[in-house]
Amino acid sequence: MLFLLLLLLTVLFQGGDHMDDFQGPTSFYVIQISSFANSTWTKNQGSGWLDDVQIHGWESDSGTAIFLKPWSKGNFSDQDLEVVLDAFRVYFIGFPRELRNYAREFQMEYPLEFQSRVGCELRHGEGPASFFRTALGGLDLLSIQNYSCTPASEGGWRAKKFCAIILQYQGVLEIIEKLLYSYCPRFLLGVLDAGKSDLQRQEKPVAWLSRGPTPGPDRLLLVCRVSGFYPKPVWVTWLRGEQEQPGSRRGDVLPNADGTWYLRVTLDVAAGEAAGLSCRVKHSSLGGQDIVLYWEHPISVGLICLAITVPSLLLFIGLALWFRRHRIIGQSGLNKIVQEELYFQRI
Ligand SMILES: *[C@@H]1O[C@H](CO)[C@@H](O)[C@H](O)[C@H]1NC(C)=O
Ligand SMILES: *[C@@H]1O[C@H](CO)[C@@H](O)[C@H](O)[C@H]1NC(C)=O
Ligand SMILES: *[C@@H]1O[C@H](CO)[C@@H](O)[C@H](O)[C@H]1NC(C)=O
Repeated sequence: MLFLLLLLLTVLFQGGDHMDDFQGPTSFYVIQISSFANSTWTKNQGSGWLDDVQIHGWESDSGTAIFLKPWSKGNFSDQDLEVVLDAFRVYFIGFPRELRNYAREFQMEYPLEFQSRVGCELRHGEGPASFFRTALGGLDLLSIQNYSCTPASEGGWRAKKFCAIILQYQGVLEIIEKLLYSYCPRFLLGVLDAGKSDLQRQEKPVAWLSRGPTPGPDRLLLVCRVSGFYPKPVWVTWLRGEQEQPGSRRGDVLPNADGTWYLRVTLDVAAGEAAGLSCRVKHSSLGGQDIVLYWEHPISVGLICLAITVPSLLLFIGLALWFRRHRIIGQSGLNKIVQEELYFQRI
């Protein structure tokens, strides 16, 4: 009993913990991708994100930010924004130049791709955390935090050397620290507040079933598609009764053009085993009323049979009774006529 109570409390506590004031996104970060095709050609891409929602773009030729939502500036004044954007402009011009200068020393071969993810996030019961992580050619390179640079192990000797160089630029580190620990948390809180109604909206999914390309002889690919939901977290799986089917294959949650999400979950089954399977969708917008779609429900087939046979049977019984009654009446009527005729004949 005590154990159950503890279990219940744990579940309740966890439930409350998730629901708290932390609805919607909890982090803001900038993604930078610099592609070096050869020793002269570079392309820079930049974007700003609240978790999985993009709110900023970057026009790299002119060095200007694109605000994708009416509330993308948060509560920052134009002056505050200029300070940040200036830092980005300097970075986007200076960084490729510096990297090229070190290309030979670092034995880097073109084409190469440099990526970074820089931002901050809110945490439970603690102050906000900031992060600055970079990757080279798809492998972690280094992270910068609190005036220190940590080389990633998969970055090898290059990462250590990069860190050694970065630490020489104290002025740059100071700007990074200011952006990470002062501007970012303030911006995050401001923009979460400004975009609250948009970020915390709930949009219900629509779900439908279809048959995918046949995976093999006597097999079926059942496809459950779910679309139009927001926010992103969603639970979709194939079930037989209440039993989750381990063969369910979940695709990536993909964006729709209108900012909602789309997901496809498939199940490869023997053709004879498809009946009785269902696709269940749980999403915060459904308020506990899961969507359940059946692939040929055996009960529903039974129900259809019942729906056809019961009325037919009733009709048949009804008709039979009707005929029986009329025959009886008919016979007695006939008898009456015969009797009457006999009566008249006697007269
Ligand atoms: C560098 O790459 C760009 C883009 O692929 C290409 O247009 C350009 O001709 C290349 N330049 C050299 C010197 O190879
Ligand atoms: C950064 O390091 C200093 C001292 O090295 C410490 O006092 C401070 O709390 C650290 N700040 C963060 C955000 O880790
Ligand atoms: C924006 O809002 C945040 C959180 O409410 C606050 O800390 C900050 O001072 C506000 N203003 C600016 C300019 O950051």
